[in-house]
Amino acid sequence: MTILVVGATGLLGSSICRRLAERGSAVRALVRSNSPNESRLASVQAEIVTGDLKDGPSLLAACRGCSAVITTANTLISARRGDSFHTVEAGGQAALLRAAEGAGVRRFIYVSLSPGLPSDSPFVRAKREFEARVRRSRLAWTILQPTSFMETAFSPAAGWDLERGRVAVIKPGTAPVSYISLEDVAGFAVGVLESAAAAERFLPLGGPEALSPLQAVRIFEDVMPAHRALRASLAAPRLDGCPAAVQFALRLPRRPGRGRLTWRRHSDAGNTGVVPGAADLSA
Ligand SMILES: NC(=O)c1ccc[n+]([C@@H]2O[C@H](COP(=O)([O-])OP(=O)(O)OC[C@H]3O[C@@H](n4cnc5c(N)ncnc54)[C@H](OP(=O)(O)O)[C@@H]3O)[C@@H](O)[C@H]2O)c1
Repeated sequence: MTILVVGATGLLGSSICRRLAERGSAVRALVRSNSPNESRLASVQAEIVTGDLKDGPSLLAACRGCSAVITTANTLISARRGDSFHTVEAGGQAALLRAAEGAGVRRFIYVSLSPGLPSDSPFVRAKREFEARVRRSRLAWTILQPTSFMETAFSPAAGWDLERGRVAVIKPGTAPVSYISLEDVAGFAVGVLESAAAAERFLPLGGPEALSPLQAVRIFEDVMPAHRALRASLAAPRLDGCPAAVQFALRLPRRPGRGRLTWRRHSDAGNTGVVPGAADLSA
């Protein structure tokens, strides 16, 4: 039977599509018209259907004939006109769930957020609202609650410009986070599909070690002079069909003789104001 992936052009969704296709599943990828990232699916064996979480009929058509739906869609960085936490994260996802129920889908996997996040953020509130809706569903549901993805947390978009040896950290930069690789999260999203033990469960996912952003800066500094690959072992709770640990490698740029990142702290009060920090973390 076919598995529908919503959010298929996203970082996580495209990885899920690739994994499903590689294991021989029939994959249907819901893609918005003019998605800037449809090329992520170019080499993936998937049926592409056009749709939008704000377009109910497109969701019903996409769900027909599917045994499972995995949704990773979110509007945080890909919002278009009419997209909001209310219309997409809560309302749009609820429309998808209704469509899945109406089309006779059996399994529903929702990738949400870590349970540790503050509930006063509208984004988090919208996610929790939809979690509550999923919980009331008669489908066999699973809600994955990953911590921050290291691929996005340590990316130029988040202020980690390793190419130039510069990092921006949200002040004070000392809060520990169990960063996880999105590839591990994708492994879980696929792994739980056939797991009866994972049905009707919230599954918080995180890496084995909680590190603060400043500790992560130190690690990058340590590995940069030797131009070695940084390897991290990412363990997560074991479920049927899921990897217990996955290795990933991040190639750092060649910068002979450079072992220090120039860094600065942004205030976490709305991320405004730049406060210069001590340049030498090894002291
Ligand atoms: N990134 C992290 O560090 C992190 C950490 C914890 C949890 N999560 C959660 O993990 C999930 C996946 O995150 P990600 O980083 O892979 O997201 P992403 O790369 O930003 O992908 C978002 C996807 O949602 C699609 N989308 C947005 N609005 C839509 C709409 N109205 N209708 C249909 N599709 C729509 C986008 O399509 P287009 O290509 O058309 O824009 C894209 O495919 C999210 O639920 C996120 O909250 C992320």
